[in-house]
Amino acid sequence: KDVLQIGMIGLGTVGTGVLRILEKNGEEIRHKLGVGLEVKRIAVRDPHKPREIEVDPSLIVDHPDHVVNDPDIDIVVEVMGGVDLARQAIARALENGKFVVTANKDLMAQHGLELLAIAKNQNRNIFYEASVAGGIPLIRPLKNSLAANHIEKVMGIVNGTTNYILTQMSCEGKEFSEALAEAQEKGFAEADPASDIEGLDASYKLAIIAALSFSSKIDMKDIFVEGITNVKLRDIRYAQELGYAIKLLAIGEETEEGLQLRVHPTLIPADHPLAAVANEFNAIFLEGDAVGEVMFYGPGAGSLPTGSAVCADIMDAARCLQHEVENGIVEATFGTKKVVPMEK
Ligand code: NDP
Ligand code: HSE
Repeated sequence: KDVLQIGMIGLGTVGTGVLRILEKNGEEIRHKLGVGLEVKRIAVRDPHKPREIEVDPSLIVDHPDHVVNDPDIDIVVEVMGGVDLARQAIARALENGKFVVTANKDLMAQHGLELLAIAKNQNRNIFYEASVAGGIPLIRPLKNSLAANHIEKVMGIVNGTTNYILTQMSCEGKEFSEALAEAQEKGFAEADPASDIEGLDASYKLAIIAALSFSSKIDMKDIFVEGITNVKLRDIRYAQELGYAIKLLAIGEETEEGLQLRVHPTLIPADHPLAAVANEFNAIFLEGDAVGEVMFYGPGAGSLPTGSAVCADIMDAARCLQHEVENGIVEATFGTKKVVPMEK
């Protein structure tokens, strides 16, 4: 095939970012893949809603079924969110022989193993790099580059909305509700922001990271979760006076008694690198027995950063289709760019 057909489910914050990247970098992506990517259908809830991005109206459909049952579509990109409908749509897409890309951590944390099993049966795969920490590469390093390590601990800031709120409260003196409204306006928050501020979103991400880090099935009910709804401006001020920052941390640790998994607001010494992680940025520390401590840092939410991870997954899915492999890891393609000679 010269062109692979993409079917999208969702055209909100993340879906718009994906379309923008495919549009802007389409030629470079074609060069890297040796095949073009074309968006053939996009399912949304309300086909008549005004969009931030110009889209050919004939691409828009009003139900995920129109995407997953389209025989011409090679790769389904689920950026709708929610659990039940997304789970049905992804299962059907796999059964119909499509590769799947998703940014949906709620779904992958709760039903990822079941969906990955369907994918395996179909000789297909699900890519979910965007489900944890937006644009930061984390799923691939855990599955690949760090795979030879025994990982003892993972710890980090994995929710952009709560980190934005805590940063705005501590640096700008804003009230919780004002900072939350800004995070929603900027597209960082979940459709129901309770998931962010009550710590659930971070717990889904911790479940995914812990499953990969500790090679273990993780049951959501085993994760202790406390969000930031009880953090007041005065708590932040007292913490600052004592030389600490308050951050919502997700922590997974292998102890002698077993795995400890928890999400809660934590006092961090002001000179610790996590204290400097501001706004929607995320950072994750991993401790491997061979590599030692590794830190991942970058934008953890938002349209283009998350779109970046989704598009990379689409490219891996495209490589799978072209090379008839399951995981999309193939050698990079190299062109010839002119090099500017430097004066001595
Ligand atoms: P949005 O709420 O901005 O967009 C959701 C999209 O899904 C909308 O286009 C909506 O349609 C569509 N949709 C909702 N319900 C249906 C339905 N029943 N049938 C068809 N389409 C439907 O969400 P985001 O883009 O922010 O998030 C999408 C996913 O990505 C979620 O799983 C989220 O957790 C995840 N994610 C989000 C990040 C972010 O920074 N926002 C970062 C990383 C992951 P319509 O436009 O008509 O309302
Ligand atoms: N609502 C999520 C956050 C989006 O704020 O981190 C990124 O997963």
